[in-house]
Amino acid sequence: MTDRLTIRRPDDWHVHLRDGAMLEAVAQHSARQFARAIIMPNLTPPVTSIEAATAYRQRIMAALGEGATFTPLMTCYLTDGTDPAELERGHAEGVFTACKLYPAHATTNSAHGVTDIRALTGVLETMQRIGMPLLIHGEVTDKSIDIFDREAVFVERVLTPLVRDYPGLKIVLEHITTAEAAAFVAEADHPIAATITPQHLLINRNALFDGGLRPHAYCLPVLKREKHRLAVRQAAVSGSPRFFLGTDSAPHVVGAKESGCGCAGIFNAPFALEAYVRVFDEEGALDTFEGFASEHGARFYGLPLNEGTVTLVRDDVEVPASIGTGETAVVPFLAGTNAGWRFEG
Ligand code: DOR
Ligand code: ZN
Repeated sequence: MTDRLTIRRPDDWHVHLRDGAMLEAVAQHSARQFARAIIMPNLTPPVTSIEAATAYRQRIMAALGEGATFTPLMTCYLTDGTDPAELERGHAEGVFTACKLYPAHATTNSAHGVTDIRALTGVLETMQRIGMPLLIHGEVTDKSIDIFDREAVFVERVLTPLVRDYPGLKIVLEHITTAEAAAFVAEADHPIAATITPQHLLINRNALFDGGLRPHAYCLPVLKREKHRLAVRQAAVSGSPRFFLGTDSAPHVVGAKESGCGCAGIFNAPFALEAYVRVFDEEGALDTFEGFASEHGARFYGLPLNEGTVTLVRDDVEVPASIGTGETAVVPFLAGTNAGWRFEG
């Protein structure tokens, strides 16, 4: 049995660092484990310009303090009014690594998202031409579609025509949760990849109702049934370069989760690598962990691999019941349980 695993320093290809006091509280957790991260732009107001992304990147670095070695990779939040020229300039200047597509009203702070992807022609043509990845929250927003089916329906109705119409557009289907999404990404004759969160690998939808309503297990896309969790697990450990790590760590203050209308999002950053490595260990696939955590994402984005290593050690580690106080009090993923692994740094 392997009790100690050293891998190239990994990256997080999908994270919400928030802003203000929450940013100050959570950024260190991502920077501790990851060299770089793709920073989600769903602030209020959303990050839709070069100026806003530059300022946000500075706030992230300020929150981390002097000497931080973490690199935030910024994204532009697409709206119906996004100007392709702004994207092209932001990409050329090294401000925007990618664009995030939220279908309007799909999730937290997505009210300014895209109402009709067909209206994005100029934007998508530009991104395809300059090789700028499109990061997609892949759920339809039609309320008549069952919430557990919204990802699979998106794959069929939106993603399938999208890859046909833009054959060279780099796409990352974010936080996949279904067998349908995993199969599409694995098989498509297209430059497409997917991120996978720890929660979609470790728990299924029963966790939402385990002895009562469990708001800390609620995220979007919502957890699915067991067969989907198993399919997503197989994709993650398969060694396919199309699947890589993206935590979707999404902190909400405890009162906003434990509410009559609780926010979607799971804060998994403090024990992210511990959670992932447990999955690869359980699947007997520790040999494919480094590719998933530290290589596939960078290669897909066309970025260099990180220097340096991190080490994970099999150990009993109690995840605290909560982290922070007041307006930054958050309940971490796996709270009150044994993480099973320790991040040594
Ligand atoms: O659960 C989620 N939380 N899913 C998202 O897509 C957004 C995120 C957030 O920003 O809280
Ligand atoms: Zn997200």
